[in-house]
Amino acid sequence: MVISCINCCFCLPDMGWLQNFLLFSALSLINSSSAAGEGCKEYGLQFERSFSVVGEAAMLNCTLVAPEVFDFWNVSYNIHWYSEETLELGQATERTLVRGTTLWFLNASLQDTGKYLCVVRTPTQCFSLTTSLIVNQTNSHCDHPYKFPLTLTNLVNDKLVCPMKDQLNEIGDFYSIQWYKAMPEGCELIENKKKYTYIRGGQDLMLAGVRPEDRGFYTCTVTFDLGGVRRSMSATIDCGVKEEYVLLPRIVEPVNEVVKAELGSSFSKVCYVFVPCVGKHSVDVYWLDKVADEYFDNNANNRVYHQTQPDQRQVDGEKGVWLNHLLTFSEVKQEDFYVNYSCEVYSYRGSVEAQFTLLPADPNLMLPVGLLLGCLALNFTAAVVFYYLFKIHIVLCFRGVFPFLYKSPDADGKLYDAYVAYPRLLPGDRANKEVEGFALHTMPQVLEGKCGYKLFIPGRDNLPGEAVVDLVEERIRASRRLLLLYSASAFSSSDVSAVSEAWQHWYERETAMHHALLEGSLRVVLLELEELHPAQLAVLPPSLRQLRKKQGVVRVRKNHTARRTTRRPGGWSLASGEEARQEGVQGLVTPPLCPSSRFWKELRYHMPVRGKRMPCSERKTLGNV
Ligand SMILES: *[C@@H]1O[C@H](CO)[C@@H](O)[C@H](O)[C@H]1NC(C)=O
Ligand SMILES: *[C@@H]1O[C@H](CO)[C@@H](O)[C@H](O)[C@H]1NC(C)=O
Ligand SMILES: *[C@@H]1O[C@H](CO)[C@@H](O)[C@H](O)[C@H]1NC(C)=O
Ligand SMILES: *[C@@H]1O[C@H](CO)[C@@H](O)[C@H](O)[C@H]1NC(C)=O
Ligand SMILES: *[C@@H]1O[C@H](CO)[C@@H](O)[C@H](O)[C@H]1NC(C)=O
Ligand SMILES: *[C@@H]1O[C@H](CO)[C@@H](O)[C@H](O)[C@H]1NC(C)=O
Ligand SMILES: *[C@@H]1O[C@H](CO)[C@@H](O)[C@H](O)[C@H]1NC(C)=O
Repeated sequence: MVISCINCCFCLPDMGWLQNFLLFSALSLINSSSAAGEGCKEYGLQFERSFSVVGEAAMLNCTLVAPEVFDFWNVSYNIHWYSEETLELGQATERTLVRGTTLWFLNASLQDTGKYLCVVRTPTQCFSLTTSLIVNQTNSHCDHPYKFPLTLTNLVNDKLVCPMKDQLNEIGDFYSIQWYKAMPEGCELIENKKKYTYIRGGQDLMLAGVRPEDRGFYTCTVTFDLGGVRRSMSATIDCGVKEEYVLLPRIVEPVNEVVKAELGSSFSKVCYVFVPCVGKHSVDVYWLDKVADEYFDNNANNRVYHQTQPDQRQVDGEKGVWLNHLLTFSEVKQEDFYVNYSCEVYSYRGSVEAQFTLLPADPNLMLPVGLLLGCLALNFTAAVVFYYLFKIHIVLCFRGVFPFLYKSPDADGKLYDAYVAYPRLLPGDRANKEVEGFALHTMPQVLEGKCGYKLFIPGRDNLPGEAVVDLVEERIRASRRLLLLYSASAFSSSDVSAVSEAWQHWYERETAMHHALLEGSLRVVLLELEELHPAQLAVLPPSLRQLRKKQGVVRVRKNHTARRTTRRPGGWSLASGEEARQEGVQGLVTPPLCPSSRFWKELRYHMPVRGKRMPCSERKTLGNV
């Protein structure tokens, strides 16, 4: 008695009833050794209470059978349950059932509410513990007065766990579970489809894509057989949905790629991470060298360091936070190449990683190649322009430098390089006198004297007695070029038609009879000693006009002479000027006698290639010869 009283001093405050109960039992059941709790070690009132509703089964567990209490594995023991009225609840009554450490109420009623004492006896010891059961009346079986709180995470797949783990363990394998959700109109059975999945035999209910509207009361109801009767038990969860959530982060960059950097340059690579979340996240990002297995720290004094940029919250579309973490190389060194740098991201939902490998940059070919192509295009254009501007000079120069490239024209069996045709002198014809002077004197001086061409000039070369017409044809056939030499006023008369007729006559006489011309084996070169006005052009024979248009003419440029004279005062001008005056050639501009002047170059360009013959001595002037 004393002991039990002392024991009572350690009881919980609301254990007054138990003291009475023990006192009562001790007094009333003196003769019974099995009196409830007598001489037993008290464990007071179990904190966890059991809840049930009318009509359902309820279970109490005697938690004294635990290693902390006694060595129940090796020591034999028995368990007795007592109601508040000290009545021992037998192994099986109509209303209760004792199974192992548990006491079952098969069909709970409001009267079952109360405290129950479990007494565990071993051969040497005794322990007792009080457990309370609360049975309430409900209108709806899915709205228990006592609810288990539980919070799901918004937007993820989350699950509800039926809070009857102990009971289910005790029931065994033969049971079924249904889940209900309390709706305004009553209990709604949740079917195992679409959004909801029953897992672990229904012990858990998985919700796909939790939304805030999933808040509410969920009840799991277990149906099983006990004591030969179908029973049920249920528990209600008060389910909340947490708006704040964090999902598994995603690394957007790097993507296990190869990145090139130039040796000696500075270089940065970002680890760009998206954390789908609402509210706070606790995601950590690290950069590490996979080869050396070293993390980079934030110390900017290091050559390679981890630089953290401010996070950016994304509010449009998928909500979350963008994390920017740079791996910065202030100077890339050889040892940095071929190393895998890994960005590792840790969150409580899991970790992800992505890496990149640094390789030396290829030399940048785009710029030099572009420049080269541009240069080539420019140089090509320049070359083309240059060629057109200086075609004659280039061709003549080429002929002079590489004479062996040209086959000698002597092989064609012709006697002359050119036949010089010009309007023959008529009495009192002043203009043609100038032309004749040019043909008979100036031209041979340069072409024959300096350039080694062989000319046939009628009026100089024809032998007396030869029939003129035959001679002309024969000589032309023996020539490689036909030089038609004329001036604008070749046929001067006040009568335009007479002039035209004279032209026509002359031109036809000089050309039309030569089949060679028609055959194309003889080239005609037009030499104009004077610029022709449009009026003068009009009287030319059409075929001559056409030829002029087609191949152009070699012409003495008036101003050219003037320029040349001023530029090279010690050159030809004096000598040729003297000569021109001696010849009585007045008013007509005479080309310079130097073979390197433009007129002669142009003419030489049209003349046959001299091949291996002596080149013109261009530098010397006639005066010096
Ligand atoms: C009863 O309680 C004991 C001790 O805490 C425990 O080991 C056992 O699993 C419980 N039994 C049930 C059915 O909950
Ligand atoms: C009790 O049983 C356990 C095994 O469950 C054993 O390891 C231990 O030695 C036993 N203790 C005693 C006192 O027999
Ligand atoms: C529980 O008891 C009530 C009345 O006492 C009865 O109507 C009901 O059928 C019983 N339920 C079970 C499962 O025995
Ligand atoms: C449940 O029953 C207990 C005891 O009968 C009572 O004290 C409590 O107020 C009831 N709870 C509800 C929510 O009805
Ligand atoms: C480095 O990365 C490449 C591709 O990103 C991978 O193939 C290789 O296995 C990685 N090496 C190491 C040591 O992780
Ligand atoms: C093109 O011309 C430029 C000068 O204008 C010269 O420097 C360059 O070498 C030329 N390129 C080639 C490919 O000839
Ligand atoms: C020749 O030059 C003079 C001025 O020096 C100029 O007036 C004249 O038009 C030029 N003639 C030709 C055909 O270019």
